[in-house]
Amino acid sequence: MASASRALITGGAKGIGAAVCRQLARDGMIVAFCDRDAPSGRILADEIGANFAPIDVTDDQAVASWLEAAGPFDVLVNNAGVDQHAFFTDTNRADWRRLLAVNLEATFSFTHGVLPHMQKRGYGRIVNIASEAGRLGSKGGAVYAAAKAGVLGFTRSIARENARFGVTANAVLPGPICTPMVEKAIEEFGEKVRMDLENLTLLRRLGTPEEVAAVVGFLASPAASFVTGEAIGVSGGMGCGAA
Ligand SMILES: NC(=O)c1ccc[n+]([C@@H]2O[C@H](COP(=O)([O-])OP(=O)(O)OC[C@H]3O[C@@H](n4cnc5c(N)ncnc54)[C@H](O)[C@@H]3O)[C@@H](O)[C@H]2O)c1
Repeated sequence: MASASRALITGGAKGIGAAVCRQLARDGMIVAFCDRDAPSGRILADEIGANFAPIDVTDDQAVASWLEAAGPFDVLVNNAGVDQHAFFTDTNRADWRRLLAVNLEATFSFTHGVLPHMQKRGYGRIVNIASEAGRLGSKGGAVYAAAKAGVLGFTRSIARENARFGVTANAVLPGPICTPMVEKAIEEFGEKVRMDLENLTLLRRLGTPEEVAAVVGFLASPAASFVTGEAIGVSGGMGCGAA
């Protein structure tokens, strides 16, 4: 790959997505990202010199127009995600639709948008941010976990269909990472949540967005040429089972 890769990150304004944007920019990629949080997105875009679009990843028309205007892309990181803390019996169809739309269907639409160029070029890196919840389940996050399990099946299928084009697809499975998503849960349910989350890991701490971004950076790079269809935990050992 002689020229710099052009990378697209969804939900890049904060948390893990912002760390991924910074990592890929540091790695010399040309970075574009979208997020529904316009003020935070604009600040980060100025900081790293990225193309930023203030769009919702579930708005198919806005996504298609932006991909058309800002693309093509050699690297896609499907990161945008939302969770919900409630027992399944306390949720309703509107909750399920929202969780599936952001966590799963947006991954479909962005992947669908970028793949034709990657196939034509014979090179591409797709990294989907799933979750350990997708392979272990989550008490109080059944639909979120189902959506993330869907992301794993989708990733492996895209890896199978696109290996012949030189396009790899891998999933990164964060455990509890200190981001606005987790801080919100701690604020809502108290400090005990932090301890409970730390105790899910063998390392007995929350991870940082930068620790996730480092793994994404590798998978998004030309160096990861023989890694595809993988689900890689960045979860302090949470994937091993009971800590
Ligand atoms: N933080 C964790 O502990 C953890 C654990 C496992 C998986 N994950 C996954 O990692 C990814 C990033 O999570 P995070 O912790 O950084 O979350 P976060 O809430 O801190 O940041 C998510 C970003 O995505 C944006 N976003 C959300 N919905 C959007 C939409 N509909 N359209 C556009 N932008 C949208 C938000 O504005 C925000 O900037 C998510 O897919 C999440 O499910 C996080």
